[in-house]
Amino acid sequence: MAQGLETAPRVPTDLASRLLIDNEWVSPKGGDSFDTYNPATGEVIASVAAASADDVDRAVRAARRALETGPWGSMDAAERGKLMYDLADLIERDAEALAQLESLNCGKTIRDARGDLNGVIYTLRYYAGWADKIEGRTVPVRGNFLSYTLRQPIGVVGQIIPWNFPLLMLAWKWGPALACGNTIVLKPAEQTPLTALKLGELAIEAGFPAGVINILNGMGETTGDAIVRHPDVDKIAFTGHVDTAKIIQKNAADTLKRVTTELGGKSPNVIFADADLDEAVAGAFHAIYFHGGQCCTAGSRLFVERSIRDEFVERLAERAKVRKIGDPLDPDTEQGPQVSQEQMDKILGYVESGQKQGARVVSGGKRIGGSGFYVEPTIFDDAREDMDIVRDEIFGPVVTVLPFNDVDEVVERANRTHYGLAAGVWTKDIDKAHLYAKKVKAGTVWVNCYHVVEPTTPFGGFKMSGQGRENGEAALEHYTELKTVTVKLHG
Ligand code: NAI
Ligand code: MG
Repeated sequence: MAQGLETAPRVPTDLASRLLIDNEWVSPKGGDSFDTYNPATGEVIASVAAASADDVDRAVRAARRALETGPWGSMDAAERGKLMYDLADLIERDAEALAQLESLNCGKTIRDARGDLNGVIYTLRYYAGWADKIEGRTVPVRGNFLSYTLRQPIGVVGQIIPWNFPLLMLAWKWGPALACGNTIVLKPAEQTPLTALKLGELAIEAGFPAGVINILNGMGETTGDAIVRHPDVDKIAFTGHVDTAKIIQKNAADTLKRVTTELGGKSPNVIFADADLDEAVAGAFHAIYFHGGQCCTAGSRLFVERSIRDEFVERLAERAKVRKIGDPLDPDTEQGPQVSQEQMDKILGYVESGQKQGARVVSGGKRIGGSGFYVEPTIFDDAREDMDIVRDEIFGPVVTVLPFNDVDEVVERANRTHYGLAAGVWTKDIDKAHLYAKKVKAGTVWVNCYHVVEPTTPFGGFKMSGQGRENGEAALEHYTELKTVTVKLHG
């Protein structure tokens, strides 16, 4: 057992073999299942029920009933908000157990998992507060009419989420969906199916009516696809790979569903020579290596002003060498394993391709140990911008250092990508900071900080990093239909 924990995390094997449909824990119709792993050891920790297209249909019908004829559709907004606050309280009660299970199944450090839980609770509370504040407007029109708008739920929403922040991505999806009065069919990622089921249990305990929240595990190409194609699902919210989003948008087009996507990135993090170098080194390190680089916002293209490049690279490498990598459940661990063999192999493949194409590994570059999916924090230098390691999202602990000479040059190079999710800049010069913030094509810009993501601030991508925004008031737009009502006034 890991140091610092009194008991081993409890794996909910009972729940894992079930689907949550209409507040019942049911067996899947086809009887399919898949294994889920502990990425720290590569061992199977549970067999998980996979939902078939029939199960998806059952869940969608339950979600539709909950909306049209159940108590949810006619519930006061304030009461909806209260249910969400109650759910947040129950998550807070169970936060430590949930963090441990998240750490076990995802490989994220227990420290990060606790941080995620804190974010989950705040996100649900933030959106609980919105439930009774979603308002329409009265609108001036010509003639003797009264026109006003109503914001109404879109309906049944399919939510397909990834494995890097399993519970946090769930909260980002559930928060606005529930605040706006929608019903949910959620498909967690096949790598991390367990903690969502625990949240299903808590949603029932909180008192959410049957059919409001349905949880179906399974593969993307089967379960996910059936949700995307189902004619009675009104909207898809997806987080994951760009290529998956393209497939989803095409398949959702047949029924013209609303689709919002939050995809990857190849985020530029720019260090000017006038930055506080201690802060910038620590910040650039955190920007790429947080959660082993498995973040859509990872600062993977590190632009460093030429005059400080050598010192900067040296200081990054010093940090990389002393990083505590190991058992994610040990509270001292700073970096756990990558989530899966597949992800580890993808990362190591990129390291090899970078070297073949002529870039130089300054530090790291190898797998650690023979069991578990651990990868060394890796720094590339002497890279060209046409190399795969600079163009593609690696989604691992691999950063490429790119020297630059001035602001205009670095802005142009920072924008030389199909992505546009996030960007960082480190400088004491407010002109440079704001010029960069204005010109860089990214949904989020961090000045002298990185990875600061709050439920209150809109989050999403320019260009191929996605469509729509999550978090903040902005997300409400994507979970409501806007209706205009016009009344003839007599007299
Ligand atoms: P993915 O995009 O395949 O998976 C994300 C979710 O989509 C999972 O729940 C999956 O089951 C589902 N899915 C897959 N194919 C589907 C389909 N045809 N229809 C409906 N749902 C489908 O991502 P994957 O394979 O886990 O990771 C591959 C790469 O994607 C990573 O290496 C990384 O580059 C990127 N990624 C980006 C994330 C982000 O936060 N933006 C999160 C996870 C992965
Ligand atoms: Mg995939």
